[in-house]
Amino acid sequence: MEDRIVCHCMEVSYETIKKAIEDGAKTVDDIKEMTEASTGCGGCEDEIQEILDELLK
Ligand code: FES
Repeated sequence: MEDRIVCHCMEVSYETIKKAIEDGAKTVDDIKEMTEASTGCGGCEDEIQEILDELLK
């Protein structure tokens, strides 16, 4: 899958989130801590959850 920005506030890309999941992130809070994604407006939280669901299944 090509890289894209998931969190526009913090400019966190799909690949960065994917890497955090590979490094052990299991929840949106883990992603927040590890990448700072979703620490701005929070509007990307649902999408991050979807990525977690997709990659952890
Ligand atoms: S788009 Fe991610 S915090 Fe705003």
